[in-house]
Amino acid sequence: MNTETIRQLIHIENLYFTYRYIAADSANAYKDGGCFPVYPDPEYVLKNINLDITEGSFTVILGHNGSGKSTLAKLMNMILSPTEGKIYINNLDTSAEDNVTEVRRIVGMVFQNPDNQLVAAIVEEDVAFGPENLGVEPPEIRKRVDEALETVGMSEYKLHAPHKLSGGQKQRIAIAGVIALSPKIIILDESTAMLDPAGRKEVLNTVKRLNTEKNMTVILITHYMNEAVMADRVIVLNKGEIYLDGTPKYIFSQFDKIKKAGLDVPQVTELMYMLNEEQKSNDKLKKYAFPTDILHTKEAADIIESQV
Ligand SMILES: Nc1ncnc2c1ncn2[C@@H]1O[C@H](COP(=O)(O)OP(=O)(O)OP(=O)(O)O)[C@@H](O)[C@H]1O
Ligand SMILES: [Mg+2]
Repeated sequence: MNTETIRQLIHIENLYFTYRYIAADSANAYKDGGCFPVYPDPEYVLKNINLDITEGSFTVILGHNGSGKSTLAKLMNMILSPTEGKIYINNLDTSAEDNVTEVRRIVGMVFQNPDNQLVAAIVEEDVAFGPENLGVEPPEIRKRVDEALETVGMSEYKLHAPHKLSGGQKQRIAIAGVIALSPKIIILDESTAMLDPAGRKEVLNTVKRLNTEKNMTVILITHYMNEAVMADRVIVLNKGEIYLDGTPKYIFSQFDKIKKAGLDVPQVTELMYMLNEEQKSNDKLKKYAFPTDILHTKEAADIIESQV
């Protein structure tokens, strides 16, 4: 008898992906399901990705434009399929088409533009849309919609028109629509990019609560370094490969490597790093310590205060 391997909630093994396919024999292109990467130059946009993501964790994915972040998200949700290698979601093989419904039930996605994700004229109908499509019974739908709106702090807007809401509110409705499907994993692909600072904060607080209170596994793709600070783990993609992987403190202390990947570190981390550099040529600063793994202004203020 085969012993079933117990994998992490997300398990990725030797993953390669390319958008460049050619039919092996164009006359019979789809007969045997056969489309193959363009050789000798398949232009892999993801290469040799090996990754495990634990249930209940909060992971941020960073990377320069075109590094493969959205492609990776789409592979986890079976919008795309691996060229080589495997992705298992809760032990389900995403290369098997039969698993698509179940994988999508486990992995909820929130995208960048809230306007493209809202479908109904009334908030509660919008949130109900997903579970209705899954054939969930009406009393259960009602319960899920109420709970989801409560979770994102939008209950009082349930009879409002989505298009009249602010960007942050719209994005919270989009998140409620995903939560109403009871996913284990929520992937947010730059879902705060189009929001103003207040809207961004609303969405981030909501996501943080989903993780801490509902134990939802969160994968947040972002270009904002200060959003990465709130994660348990940060993965940096560079040219389709995993470049750095660790806690925010570890990642942002790798100042030179982060800059090399075309990214920034949080402002306060950069300031401490620069003071550290300055110290090398300024004797008056020699007596002070400027740690280079500081992520929060308060942390920096406390350290400076303790030394003066
Ligand atoms: N549908 C597609 N067809 C062909 N190439 C694509 C397609 N989508 C993305 N690519 C290419 O794949 C690479 C990775 O793109 P991807 O969108 O995953 O990057 P990203 O890290 O999400 O970038 P961004 O920060 O701009 O959102 C890029 O070179 C991109 O041009
Ligand atoms: Mg992207």
